[in-house]
Amino acid sequence: MLPGLPRPLLRGSGAPGDLRRAGRDHHARVVVGDGVAGTATRAHGADRPADPRVQAGIVVTEPEVSHVSENPAAPDPLDLPAGLLADVLSALVLDVPDRALQLLDDAELDAELRVRLRDAVQAAASTAGRAEALGDQLRSRGRWLDPDVIECYRVAFYTGPDWEAQLDNPLFARFAAKRAGLPYDKWPHYFDIYRRTLAPYVGAPVRVLEIGVFHGGGLDQLRALLGPQAVLVGMDVDPAAEAACAGRFDVAVGDQGDPEFLRSVVERFGPFDVIIDDGGHTMAQQITSIECLFPTLNDGGVYLVEDTHTSYWEPFLDADQTFMEWAKARLDDINGYHFRTEAELGVWTASVTAIHVYDSIVVLDKGRHQPPFCEVAGSGSFVYGDRITESVLLSYRASLDTRTQELQQARDFAGAALSDRQQAVDFGLAADELRSQLSAEVEQLRAELAAERERAAEDRARLAAEANLAEAERQRALVSAEIAGKQLEEVRGSASWRLGQRAKRLRRRS
Ligand SMILES: C[S@@+](CC[C@H](N)C(=O)[O-])C[C@H]1O[C@@H](n2cnc3c(N)ncnc32)[C@H](O)[C@@H]1O
Repeated sequence: MLPGLPRPLLRGSGAPGDLRRAGRDHHARVVVGDGVAGTATRAHGADRPADPRVQAGIVVTEPEVSHVSENPAAPDPLDLPAGLLADVLSALVLDVPDRALQLLDDAELDAELRVRLRDAVQAAASTAGRAEALGDQLRSRGRWLDPDVIECYRVAFYTGPDWEAQLDNPLFARFAAKRAGLPYDKWPHYFDIYRRTLAPYVGAPVRVLEIGVFHGGGLDQLRALLGPQAVLVGMDVDPAAEAACAGRFDVAVGDQGDPEFLRSVVERFGPFDVIIDDGGHTMAQQITSIECLFPTLNDGGVYLVEDTHTSYWEPFLDADQTFMEWAKARLDDINGYHFRTEAELGVWTASVTAIHVYDSIVVLDKGRHQPPFCEVAGSGSFVYGDRITESVLLSYRASLDTRTQELQQARDFAGAALSDRQQAVDFGLAADELRSQLSAEVEQLRAELAAERERAAEDRARLAAEANLAEAERQRALVSAEIAGKQLEEVRGSASWRLGQRAKRLRRRS
């Protein structure tokens, strides 16, 4: 962001180039001229260098009508006696408004201003209200960013409810607790915008690019908010930024107004989900950067441009168009589907899904923005009085009902098939079990049969051997009988046998 109060206020009647350089170097705050309107000229015209976007072949959106006041009215420079405002504010902070009124009465003041400041102190009932009313009065007479005016608003903020309400924001709490190290300044109302914009990326492994790094305070804040998974990369024209972040963050050194450099950063570290432009804040820088980088953002990403109030400050007006004019044109683009022909539609209509415009910050959401269509619920004839629409809608609904029924039937069928299948599976399991039981039994029977067969074979062999033996015995017996027959014949033929036979017969007769 641009520096706040602690930095010295640069006043001068510098040429636009000097003021632009001063604007780029945000270590100092810049006010054009000597506080009187009209001493600075806007930096457009023949002396302006050719637009680098055109040189790089980028389609540059033509400027819309400028609404920038080139010489913001500054009625009177504030000319309060030294120390008066600090004393008045101290009295208010201590809640002694009468003392503040006394101080105003005693001071050497323009009569009309005295009345206005007294009215402010008396108008409100709280310290914060009185300080804010005082700031409003001073602002109506001086420049918007006069340190006295800002001091009133700062007191109002820190004595009012807004400051405590912000404490649950880790970004603000961290900022408020910072009491050492390198200086780091922000407009406090940015913290809420940052938290809201970056909430979807907290804890996610997103890639973030910060344009304008300075000492790395912004990158530190982003690390604290997003967590360790986020890949944080910086870009700065000043090599000192790279040195300041060495060992903590990668920082690409180069000019955000140079499209080639921007592309090289995306190639090296991107594509990014979040891009934050807190760089040089000139119109050409902001517009060149967003036109080059937004199309490379991942869908679902955001592009945040900080300090867009520079669109209203002379030193930063180095293009034909302010950044806010550029952003206003995007408001038309986002509605492009409703009034542009196909040929007129561009990348912004197709890829910007939302634009968030805050005081000093603009956020563009990236995503696929498809052509919208209107849908009807309830009775078409009631909504449009258009029977065709209604009949189309009704037939659509009827076909939807049919499809729903078919779907249900298919589901039922699938459910039944599934349960059949389950049964089959269960049955299959039981059959498997039975099969294995049976095969075990068969195996056992086979074994028993084989043993039985072996035994039978042995018996057969034994019987055969016995039969052989018996046959041999019979043969032997036959041979013996034959021999005995022969011997008998021989005996019968002998005289002794015959005599023996006669003697036997005689004995039987006698
Ligand atoms: C306001 S500071 C950034 C502060 C930082 N974002 C933070 O929150 O702490 C602006 C930075 O932008 C850098 N800058 C200025 N012109 C630039 C350019 N053309 N390209 C890149 N960076 C630039 C400056 O060098 C400076 O460091």
